[in-house]
Amino acid sequence: MMTSRSRTSQHQAPTQPQPAGFPAVRPRRLRLSGAMRQMMRETNLAPSDFILPLFVRHGSDIRQPIASMPGQYQWSVDRLRNEIREIVALGIPAVVLFGIPASKDATGSEHYDGDGIVPQAIRAIKETAPEMVVISDICFCEYTDHGHCGIINTPGTSHFTRRLPEGYVLNDLTLELLGRASVAHAEAGADIIAPSGMMDGMVGAIRAALDEQGFDHTAILSYAAKYASGFYGPFRDAAESPPAFGDRSQYQMDPANRREAMCEVALDVAEGADMLMVKPALPYLDVLAEVRQTFPLPVAAYQVSGEYAMLHAAAANGWLDLRRCALESLISIRRAGADMILTYFAKDAARWLNGAE
Ligand code: PBG
Repeated sequence: MMTSRSRTSQHQAPTQPQPAGFPAVRPRRLRLSGAMRQMMRETNLAPSDFILPLFVRHGSDIRQPIASMPGQYQWSVDRLRNEIREIVALGIPAVVLFGIPASKDATGSEHYDGDGIVPQAIRAIKETAPEMVVISDICFCEYTDHGHCGIINTPGTSHFTRRLPEGYVLNDLTLELLGRASVAHAEAGADIIAPSGMMDGMVGAIRAALDEQGFDHTAILSYAAKYASGFYGPFRDAAESPPAFGDRSQYQMDPANRREAMCEVALDVAEGADMLMVKPALPYLDVLAEVRQTFPLPVAAYQVSGEYAMLHAAAANGWLDLRRCALESLISIRRAGADMILTYFAKDAARWLNGAE
């Protein structure tokens, strides 16, 4: 049987499919022209995928460059309006806001002040561009004098407890204040509340606080799997928020862990998160891909300040092509499964995708 078939196949058209391999199979056929390659693309990237982070501060006529993040600025609210018009014109649908308060204190009180810098910015953006989706980052590190993401267990304060170490970030007390801040920002007009402090129970506490005040249509984008990352370095210059002591590894996740990320995300889903986030992006594409496969909710990835800064630094040295590498990073993040990307490249990438050099 074997012998007769192999003999006839020398002379007749094969009746069986050819073995799947070279030379019958040549993947390069589909890469022959630009049009072919375009047709075969599995993933796309568009300005509508982007969310641009913006830093806002008190004062007027301020557009203060951030040294470690070329092309990024701290804005005063008056100067923000024009910037927002540009962002809308580029087809970017959303911004996420970070505030630099007038002064910092132990409980980060400007964060839950309805007249704080972020609520002011939200109102200005909504006046300028009502269709712009405004996301408010909810976390205490920009607002506290110690730079941690919640209230610290400090001897001599009314909330001090000997059951926990001095310097520990008090979870449940912080939840109360996260709820207050979320309501203040929702009241100012934020469409989406994005808690980034990695406190246990933060999504549930914020959902309850919003609902209690009638903000049941305000969505929650949870920084569900946020790692204790060295790539946040430039952001801490931008937001003037480095921790005064220690680091954030008692609340942010260990970079070595992936299963733990699935636990964190599952908890946030159960607590009512509408959207999920993985942060940073490029060093955590495996986590992003697994979140995408495991959960049906929309997934965002945050290409953080260090990811932006390192591409700029290499490009400034002439070692990498900025446009090419930035777009490659962004499409990789989409390929791994992100529906949307928080990125400082949003404006540049939108221009590049719209055909600019
Ligand atoms: C916390 C927060 C941080 C970032 C976004 N939200 C800093 C941190 O966790 O230390 C970092 C974003 C970036 O690096 O671009 N409010």
